[in-house]
Amino acid sequence: MKMTSIRSLRLLCLLPFVTGLTWFSAAAQPRPVPNPQLASKDLNARVDALLNKMTLDEKVGQLVQFSAGYATGPGASNLKYDELAAKGQVGSMLNVVGAEATNHYQHIAVEKSRLHIPILFGQDVIHGHRTTFPVPLAVAASWDPEAAETVAHFGAVEARADGIPWVFSPMVDIARDPRWGRIIESSGEDPYLGSAMARAWVKGYQQGDLGKPDSAAVSVKHFAAYGGAIAGRDYNAVDMGEITLRQVYLEPYRAAVEAGAATLMSSFNTINGIPASANAFTLTQILRKEWGFDGFVVSDWGAVAELINHSIGDGPTVARKALVAGVDMDMEGNLYGTVIASQVRSGKISEGVVDEAVRRILRVKFALGLFDHPYTAQGPAYDATPERRAAARKVADETFVLLKNDPVEGVGALLPLAAKAKKVALIGPLADNQRELLGAWAVTGDPKYVVTLRSALAERLGDRLLYAQGCDFLSGEDANVLKRVSFSGPDAADAHLPIPDDAKTIAEAVKTAKQADVAILALGESTNWMEGEASSRTTLGFTGAQQQLLEAVVATGKPVILVVLAGRPLELKWAANHVPAILEAWSPGVEAGHAVADVLFGDVNPSGKLPASLPRAVGQEPLYYAQLPTGRPAHGDLSHLPQNAGEKFMSRYMDEENSALYPFGWGLSYTRFSYAQPTISRAEVPVREVLGSHSKPVTTVGVDVRNTGSVAGTEVVQLYLRNTAASVEQPVRELKGFARVTLAPGEQKRVEFPLGFDELNFYNAEIKRTVEPTTYKIWVGGSSLATAEASLQVVE
Ligand code: NOJ
Repeated sequence: MKMTSIRSLRLLCLLPFVTGLTWFSAAAQPRPVPNPQLASKDLNARVDALLNKMTLDEKVGQLVQFSAGYATGPGASNLKYDELAAKGQVGSMLNVVGAEATNHYQHIAVEKSRLHIPILFGQDVIHGHRTTFPVPLAVAASWDPEAAETVAHFGAVEARADGIPWVFSPMVDIARDPRWGRIIESSGEDPYLGSAMARAWVKGYQQGDLGKPDSAAVSVKHFAAYGGAIAGRDYNAVDMGEITLRQVYLEPYRAAVEAGAATLMSSFNTINGIPASANAFTLTQILRKEWGFDGFVVSDWGAVAELINHSIGDGPTVARKALVAGVDMDMEGNLYGTVIASQVRSGKISEGVVDEAVRRILRVKFALGLFDHPYTAQGPAYDATPERRAAARKVADETFVLLKNDPVEGVGALLPLAAKAKKVALIGPLADNQRELLGAWAVTGDPKYVVTLRSALAERLGDRLLYAQGCDFLSGEDANVLKRVSFSGPDAADAHLPIPDDAKTIAEAVKTAKQADVAILALGESTNWMEGEASSRTTLGFTGAQQQLLEAVVATGKPVILVVLAGRPLELKWAANHVPAILEAWSPGVEAGHAVADVLFGDVNPSGKLPASLPRAVGQEPLYYAQLPTGRPAHGDLSHLPQNAGEKFMSRYMDEENSALYPFGWGLSYTRFSYAQPTISRAEVPVREVLGSHSKPVTTVGVDVRNTGSVAGTEVVQLYLRNTAASVEQPVRELKGFARVTLAPGEQKRVEFPLGFDELNFYNAEIKRTVEPTTYKIWVGGSSLATAEASLQVVE
């Protein structure tokens, strides 16, 4: 049985237990070595030998990254890169894609510069490179780390073929507020799931060996806590206590570093008043001293120069602060290139600081084998081979979450469709739009490879499929709003956003629905315009006339299946009340149509579970299941229980329930699963044993899970804990284990979850990870509403 469990505090393993204290001292630990390749003596000897030959200007050149090609941020420098590369002043480039383009600059750097140091090319490879897979939030919905590994592996292989050995992925930011458009790039709201995914992405890209010709170094982003932006507004400040920072937001970065991540990207936000890109606490104290990170840190695009806007100094000052705090490379902005050398010469920055940053960058270049193999062979043009398509389809199949599948009178459950449907009306702006189905961060993906829902359903239904677009994503007014913030400028917005005649197209769609036995509505968001970076929203409903379209089709009385295609949790309350079947399908990538059809027709039994809570109303945000308790709980421990309308002075809203519409971990199947009473191998464990267990399990929770339906299915079995008596209050529930279990009809399997220090610890008031005598409530089930219960006593 495949089991995922954070056994990640390896650094604590070597620690002696400090008698009489209930915490470990971080300072006493031997320095952890997350990536032995970067620590290798031979490699470091080569680095030092080269460093000794470098002039100050050549050193600073290694700290600079330019975007030549296209821009993925504001204000690209547009300098003469050929000349700079020949002088050894281009350490790295981004957005240069393909053997020809990368070799062009590489030949100059390697053949014309004095020390022949190769350029490190980096690129946003987020959900595949040429082959576009589902977006990361969708991958997280699979609760299958192997799916993330697959996406990363293909991304690395294809990026390498394009001359790119360094990918700006994975994004491991915890995202608890879907107003923030970048939730699409994350693994959602939970640190445990996020950490499991973070490890898998790193493993898939780096394959445990940066020297392999088809592995790529990762850049784990955005360090740190970028996802905690106040009010979900992108680039906004982050303000949170250190315990939440460490216990929730930093956990997935730590997991990625422990998995050997070669680089990290520093973020745009401030953390408790100190900008993350000049934050010595996170970049040096935590990252390097506590976690032993040996790779390098690149800033996000222009983040060093933007420190001026954060009002922490002028150009030279902020560049110095960033470098000294631990940002080794300046992505675009080009501040390091212009103001660091002079400050070293005037004695404001010690050359040792520059040397250390250069060392870190050269280490990664050597580990990647760039000095021995700087060029990329021109291969055949990209081909979306059946093997790659099959991988994209398999991953997409696992990512869909069946939110609802209520029986319809006289028809039964609408899904799976199977042979039931004689005529199917497919309606909606996402039914047949290749670009939109690709997803938000597919910079190198090509929409022409996308199989849309319309073409995939037509393959199965032929002329039994009817189609109407119904409306666009935007009404005229929305289009005007979005023009102001469009990525490619107002003119491009005009060109791409037709002002639709919604009344006419909705009437056509209604007519189409009336001719069919069932209507499938493909609604959601424009990934192009509304998702990803700089795409925060204040509302979470369907945009444009989509809601009107949905209501109009439902009003026909035809049974409706809603397929939601979006990179963020949307507000689906109306749909949940009026539509019998809802499938959350995210942004599925090149095999979108085939994968959606696989699930609609029951060839694949849906197994995805929500990685982020779906709200009833946007005003509940940030909404997440692992809330801290309140002194005035509205409904006891769990906010999903029915509301008591008589409770006035309680922690609740006047106009809405506290609970999620569909909670974290939620997802139905075409079969049903039953859970027996969980058992625990030891129900009582002395606290000293847990503290001294060095991450080894001290007890095991076991549960029998049975498929009680008539088709095979995969259940994601989830284990949640509550520490009921800690010195620092703990969430009402926390995920601490999960396993994907495939069961034939009638089959039963036992799933076991080991528990030890890793699962039971928390940060105490001294900011030390600890375990104290307490009772842990334990629940096992198919979502964060799990009810099968056990308990564990940790005693004196
Ligand atoms: C800015 C984004 O925040 C980051 O995720 C991305 O990697 C860089 N731009 C480079 O495109």
